[in-house]
Amino acid sequence: MNLTQLIETRRSIRKYEKKKVSEEDIQKLLEAVRWSPSWANTQCWEIIAVSDNKIREELKAVISPKNPATEAIVSAPVLFALCGKLGIAGYYKDKVTTKLGDWFMYDLGIATQSLVLTAREIGLGTVIIGSFDHNKAKKILSVPEGYEVASLICAGYPSQSPKPPKRKEVSEFIHYNRF
Ligand SMILES: Cc1cc2nc3c(=O)[nH]c(=O)nc-3n(C[C@H](O)[C@H](O)[C@H](O)COP(=O)(O)O)c2cc1C
Repeated sequence: MNLTQLIETRRSIRKYEKKKVSEEDIQKLLEAVRWSPSWANTQCWEIIAVSDNKIREELKAVISPKNPATEAIVSAPVLFALCGKLGIAGYYKDKVTTKLGDWFMYDLGIATQSLVLTAREIGLGTVIIGSFDHNKAKKILSVPEGYEVASLICAGYPSQSPKPPKRKEVSEFIHYNRF
């Protein structure tokens, strides 16, 4: 698949086959993060690969049962917690450089897209989970001060093929010259 096809056919996958994901494939996902662009190449990302079932159950408990990805936290063959170091993306000599403050979420977003598209390329499905109690997750995962957990990303071989949710037309968001 070319890049356009990967972008257009990637879907959030919340149900997986029981099949194991090889260490080699996990490394491919992490390499994709590694080569992502970031603010002044600051690479604020830190990733926790969570295989421990007890920790996964604890994480599941900090996500609303109404969240459609709750079950995936325990059932996914691979679970990453994507964390970011604060105070480096968007900073120069410890001072924030733009009115937008810390850019860690931006850089983690780009890294996430690299990861999920690479996953798609090698036949894996993913779902990004952003809606949970971040403070509780931080505690469960022993994330130190100065870092935040931004998202959880589940991955595995898809056992579902959801229809693409409707997108806005380009004409609905493109502006020319001025907003
Ligand atoms: C930052 C972010 C946070 C998300 N959080 C959740 C979540 O908490 N639970 C969930 O089921 N899906 C979550 N998603 C997946 C979106 O719901 C999904 O990407 C969107 O509906 C479009 O569907 P698609 O990914 O299949 O194209 C999240 C996606 C992003 C980018």
